[in-house]
Amino acid sequence: MSPNVFPAPETVKTTAYTDQKPGTSGLRKPTKVFLESENYTENFIQAIIAAIPGGDDRKGKSLVVGGDGRFYGRQAVDIIIKIAVANGVTNLVIGQSTILSTPALSNLIRKRDPSCLGGIILTASHNPGGPDGDFGIKFNCPNGGPAPDAVTNQIFSISKALTEYRICKELPAIDLDKIGVTEFEVASIGNVRVEIIDSVEDYVNMMKEIFDFGLLKEFLDSFPVVINAMSGVTGPYVQRIFREDLCSCNPQSTFLNTEPLPDFGGHHPDPNLTYAADLVKILKENPELYQFGAAYDGDGDRNMLLGAGGFFVTPSDSLAVLAANLTTIPYFVKTGVKGLARSMPTSAAVDRVGKKLGLNVYEVPTGWKYFGNLMDAGKLSLCGEESFGTGSDHIREKDGIWASLAFLSVLANKKIGVKELMESHWKEFGRNYFLRLDYENVDGEKANKMITDLENKLKTTKPEILTEEIFNAAKGSGAAVVPEKYKIAFTDNFEYTDPVDASVAKGQGLRLVFDNGCGRLVWRLSGTGSSGATVRVYLEKFDGENVVGEALDSLKDFVEISLKLTNLHEVLNVTGPTVIT
Ligand code: G6P
Ligand code: ZN
Repeated sequence: MSPNVFPAPETVKTTAYTDQKPGTSGLRKPTKVFLESENYTENFIQAIIAAIPGGDDRKGKSLVVGGDGRFYGRQAVDIIIKIAVANGVTNLVIGQSTILSTPALSNLIRKRDPSCLGGIILTASHNPGGPDGDFGIKFNCPNGGPAPDAVTNQIFSISKALTEYRICKELPAIDLDKIGVTEFEVASIGNVRVEIIDSVEDYVNMMKEIFDFGLLKEFLDSFPVVINAMSGVTGPYVQRIFREDLCSCNPQSTFLNTEPLPDFGGHHPDPNLTYAADLVKILKENPELYQFGAAYDGDGDRNMLLGAGGFFVTPSDSLAVLAANLTTIPYFVKTGVKGLARSMPTSAAVDRVGKKLGLNVYEVPTGWKYFGNLMDAGKLSLCGEESFGTGSDHIREKDGIWASLAFLSVLANKKIGVKELMESHWKEFGRNYFLRLDYENVDGEKANKMITDLENKLKTTKPEILTEEIFNAAKGSGAAVVPEKYKIAFTDNFEYTDPVDASVAKGQGLRLVFDNGCGRLVWRLSGTGSSGATVRVYLEKFDGENVVGEALDSLKDFVEISLKLTNLHEVLNVTGPTVIT
């Protein structure tokens, strides 16, 4: 064997795990599980690669790899290179220092290499990182989107039956921090190419094609913003797009936590009012100065948007406002608006816009993967989720930085502030008051039982009896309630049939929907936790008249109704939600 040829792959015996079932968004577990369970990462990577078409199909095609920079990411990249090559993947594209935001990775899969096998993203999204936090591995398909159920089910079944994995233990050392290409030969595999790329460049170029950077820059010259990257992956993107470009002429604009840290500085990298409290505080304390605030999660696909004084824009509302103003963005002028979509628990604010504009609004289960088919079929341009995800068909993931640039484009076009924009939108369309209550890390068995009991109750109780019970509960809260308003239109456990491939997703959340589109309650279990269970309760109430109130006031009676129907506090042994958004 010539010295430049590295040894052929080895086969290593392993014991299968039964718990490697990808959740809403990939396999997510406490980091300790990956560190301490023998071959845990190796097994799962082998299962992913085995699920990708094999043989000659892999030759010359690339696999994109990157993540949010969290603890254990580098070790995982090393394992991926060795197992991927051993399984005949000969072309790897990796973000510098292992950094690639989820949207940037989706773009790379779609654009940079037209013959891509997909990508592996090393992230647990908005979950904390570090040795005591979480780690995650997610596979994205060649369309750039999260693997659909059919693929994740296949990965899971392969993982459960695994008896061995293939690995190239001896490969040349690759400096993950240095941009460049390493080429070498592996016996029985052939030539291999590993490319370390600039993590930001392709993404910035895409943003420049989508938005009018000239308009944005001019507007931001006199519109100071605060952006919080939460020590997650977006730091380098914020640096290049906002600090060095769009806001370079506005020294008042402020950028927080722009260095990606393996443990996110010990914080919870989830952009909501609880975990991005530093952003809210700075806006509240400087109401005359900062006009806009944004925060992103660990892997850069989620966003939270705020206005001067900390004015909070719910993700459901930002989706609706964007839908109503898409023609302010050059990309949509070019592509046209094909349709709109939201996840089921997201408020119906966007439905009202769709109705007015004559556009279809699809309602899909929670999980970005459900939007992909609609986009690929040319039925969908803009979509969003109440869980702080907004995006479009420019890629197949939600996109935090894109969402803030889109929102800023609307402001720049209208030359108004955030609060003004929202209030004029509500005056035109009415307002869907919305609240989500999260009960995190509760006992899984109890949470499941609560959902099953509630499902039975909703199924078996006559609507008039339920209505009566609900009315009495609401009356107890002291809120003024008109009984007729609480006539139940239907109750169900949401089921979705994909209009493109007819695949069916069942059991996606319990719904109690009131008549005349005046409101609803939704209960479901989160699919993204790594330990225990999280119960999510979503409350929504439409008001066409009083549009500038507080969501908590408007929905007080619905909170009460939910508690009465579920007995939640007693059953889960809690005193209140851990997060309210
Ligand atoms: C991830 C997914 C989203 C989903 C969210 C909440 O961010 O990408 O599509 O909406 O998690 O999921 P959960 O199951 O925790 O409510
Ligand atoms: Zn995320």
